[in-house]
Amino acid sequence: MPGKVIIGTQWGDEGKGKVVDLLAERAHVVVRFQGGNNAGHTIVRDGETFKFHLIPSGILYRGKTCVIGNGVVVDPSVLIEELEGLRRRRVDVGGLRLSANAHLIMPYHVMLDTAGEAKLGKLEIGTTKRGIGPCYADKSARLGIRVQDLLDAKILRKKIFAALEPKKQMLRPFARDPKLDLHAMTEEYLSYGHRLEPHIADTSRLCWEALDAGRTVLFEGAQATLLDLDHGTYPFVTSSNPVAGAACVGAGVGPTDIDEVWGVCKAYTTRVGSGPFPTELEDEVGAHMRDRGHEFGTTTGRERRCGWLDLVALRFAVRVNGMTSLALTKLDVLSDFAEIPVCTRYRLPDGSETDEFPAHQSDFHHARPVYETLPGWREPLDDGLPAAARGYVEFVESALELEVSMIGTGADRESVITRDQPAYSRS
Ligand code: IMP
Repeated sequence: MPGKVIIGTQWGDEGKGKVVDLLAERAHVVVRFQGGNNAGHTIVRDGETFKFHLIPSGILYRGKTCVIGNGVVVDPSVLIEELEGLRRRRVDVGGLRLSANAHLIMPYHVMLDTAGEAKLGKLEIGTTKRGIGPCYADKSARLGIRVQDLLDAKILRKKIFAALEPKKQMLRPFARDPKLDLHAMTEEYLSYGHRLEPHIADTSRLCWEALDAGRTVLFEGAQATLLDLDHGTYPFVTSSNPVAGAACVGAGVGPTDIDEVWGVCKAYTTRVGSGPFPTELEDEVGAHMRDRGHEFGTTTGRERRCGWLDLVALRFAVRVNGMTSLALTKLDVLSDFAEIPVCTRYRLPDGSETDEFPAHQSDFHHARPVYETLPGWREPLDDGLPAAARGYVEFVESALELEVSMIGTGADRESVITRDQPAYSRS
């Protein structure tokens, strides 16, 4: 079973990093296929904490090939900083490969992201302000600068010139900012190219060769289904496609190379940034969940909005991703509630109820959650699942018609229960 995709099923921060880390142990190649340094995940390994934004965390395994695919947008200064941080901690980064076709985040993308949000005022998206949207916009407008351009001074200068002029108009109040100087920017990016050159490769071919040889390739999604540019809660989404289908485009492989799609889902729901969130708890219960789950962004440090599990949205995620397995993370965070409501249907503005994710934005924006309440539990999950926690997992499975193959019960790597372990049916 060589091609496995791992994706987020909610609004991100589901703990994909940990699931990827566990599955990466048996993979030969780990590939990021979309997003950029708007993503962030934390891996705890032997008591040491590592924070990743661009490099697949599989790099912590000696000798593994880790790929930043063509679908990723790369801020080279962030990538170099991440590489140096890992080198300082004696992690071998020799296995990192960077697609020559990946697009680069330029200083003007970051400025445009910030200016765009300021202009939107109350309607802001709540982006990470890392330049992600403007970079993907330039890619579509065919004004993007790609990794391979870093290796040719003449081409790089020409392309920056073409892209920079319209940006100066758009950023008129900042037009004289030294960060927008053509010469300085070209020199800065050439120096990045020099440092990244040993890692630059034809990564589509590399993935194909691994798959062709029967090796396991793990495609690691960033963000999540409900933040997908096409299938998420537009416009409160990111500017790439975090759904499983995008793994093919963003890594340069074909759909028949994918054998498994793992969805990662938190045992409750969180969201960062603006946008609708039917099961949000804007009260002390939500605050308690945030504290227990340490729900603060890895990338921006922002507080995450918290709420109960939303099975309507999850069923949608199962469908659009063609999911074959589910990993349910952070179940331990719920070990302190007398009862646990789970959203199984939405009540729409016309009074009707549905268990289908609404196709029209207004229905979703006004949807009210309809809950079924399950018994809670107070025991920690260190020695296995108490009956009520198992009941919760099985309720999710029957609602989604999908097996929960992996259950996260704590922050570190060892705190995971699989369906076939005795700890699953402790009592
Ligand atoms: P952008 O990706 O920075 O353009 O932000 C667009 C939306 O996606 C905002 O609501 C962000 O909070 C959200 N977002 C982007 N990356 C992540 C992530 O890794 N986790 C959770 N939310 C994210």
